[in-house]
Amino acid sequence: MRPCSPLDFDPETMRQMGYRVVDLLVDYWQSLPTRPIGKRADRACLEALLNEPTPDQPQPFERVLQEFLQRVLPHIIKVDHPRYFAFVPAPNEYVGVLADFLSAGMNVFVGTWMVGAGATQVERVVIRWLCDWFGMPDTAGGLFVSGGSVANLVCLTAARAHYPDALTRGRVYYSDQTHSCVARAWRILGLREEQLCVLPADEHFQIPLDTLAGQIERDRAAGWLPFCVVANAGTTNTGAVDPLSALAELCEAEGLWLHADGAYGAAAILTEEGKARLQGIERLHSLAVDPHKWLYQPMMAGCAIVRDFEQLRTAFRILPPYLQDKERGAAGIDLCDYGVELSRNFRALKVWMSLKTHGIEAFRQAMEHNLHLARVAEQAIREIPHWQIVSPATLGVVAFRYAPPELSPQQVDALNRALVDKMIQDGFAMVSSTVLRGRVALRMCTLNPRATEADVQETIRRLHQLAVKSASAS
Ligand SMILES: Cc1ncc(COP(=O)(O)O)c(C=O)c1O
Repeated sequence: MRPCSPLDFDPETMRQMGYRVVDLLVDYWQSLPTRPIGKRADRACLEALLNEPTPDQPQPFERVLQEFLQRVLPHIIKVDHPRYFAFVPAPNEYVGVLADFLSAGMNVFVGTWMVGAGATQVERVVIRWLCDWFGMPDTAGGLFVSGGSVANLVCLTAARAHYPDALTRGRVYYSDQTHSCVARAWRILGLREEQLCVLPADEHFQIPLDTLAGQIERDRAAGWLPFCVVANAGTTNTGAVDPLSALAELCEAEGLWLHADGAYGAAAILTEEGKARLQGIERLHSLAVDPHKWLYQPMMAGCAIVRDFEQLRTAFRILPPYLQDKERGAAGIDLCDYGVELSRNFRALKVWMSLKTHGIEAFRQAMEHNLHLARVAEQAIREIPHWQIVSPATLGVVAFRYAPPELSPQQVDALNRALVDKMIQDGFAMVSSTVLRGRVALRMCTLNPRATEADVQETIRRLHQLAVKSASAS
């Protein structure tokens, strides 16, 4: 018999450990709606609770598990909670969870065709499904990455590589509603601050087309090389989608690369509202989309999609001698040549298994429910005095604020910001704040398919109660 490594367990113990974790997860999922959202943890308290030297003595797995349950989990705000309406919720999906367990358990490597052919093909299949949803041509392709930030980075790397002078005199354009990961991507890619043209969004939180066209013309005249527009396909702030068809016309006429950050909103193409808002998405040069957001998958799962898949290879491929073996034998696709990672885990498995298990219709229904809940929230807010809708329900996001007439704009800002903290203290639900048109606004993102109308109504009722109390105290 093979000797056991000091890191192994006997098969029966392995099974018991696994069953224990599955039982625990199912109980967690069942109890989530009745649990509080979780608290903002105090750093000093957590350092005191958790800091310790590297363990030198073994401990029973059950004890370590209990330590996680008792000391760590209570200090994590539950982004998968049905009443977590803050930022971008991460509702999670059980088949995806099991797929992650499987792919970690078999440690599937999806960097090269030589080693990971089957997994690579599954990834290609899932990416093709997404491309079909977006009406992308046969030349389109892409790959899984950790999330939206890296998906945008990968796509924008292809854009930069397509224009040889981009680094020296290139200029890129996007609205001030664009996620900060886009500015960070350009920074990583070596563009200077003055090469980033950030246009103030219009009253619908969309990029202003005329201003953009005028700016491109002026920049060309001044010697810049306008080369890329980054559109939004669902902003984090308000769910706004830039006018993709009109942007495609402009970019085609001007010879610019049109990328869209659809990390949040692109998957809404499966719904009626999404289809209407995302018109023109089929004309993009590249698109970032995050199955760990609106396809409910466990983190980490983002996708970088490029209209001409080979442009990713042009941008990324380097062949060192220690990888030369991968070049021989059956010709396939080495996904390590199309992005930043060589060691790549099997992120596509969760989307593949999840879509196959539930079928696309279940996802469509869940998303329609999400969109409906945002409209329910908007309606409920409109019905209470002194609450203003700052941005109506758009792709599952509604932005609003409490603004009683007796308070100054500064007091209103402070009050709305404080409401986020008060809601966390309350523990029932969580919302987040942002700044829109220079003023603080609250936002709810109703992305969890397990959230109910009652959850939304009660969250707004509590917000109102807290707001009235705070206003009378200020
Ligand atoms: C519109 C948008 N783009 C990009 C990102 C960044 O995605 P990730 O957090 O997966 O890196 C987010 C995150 O919420 C987002 O909402």
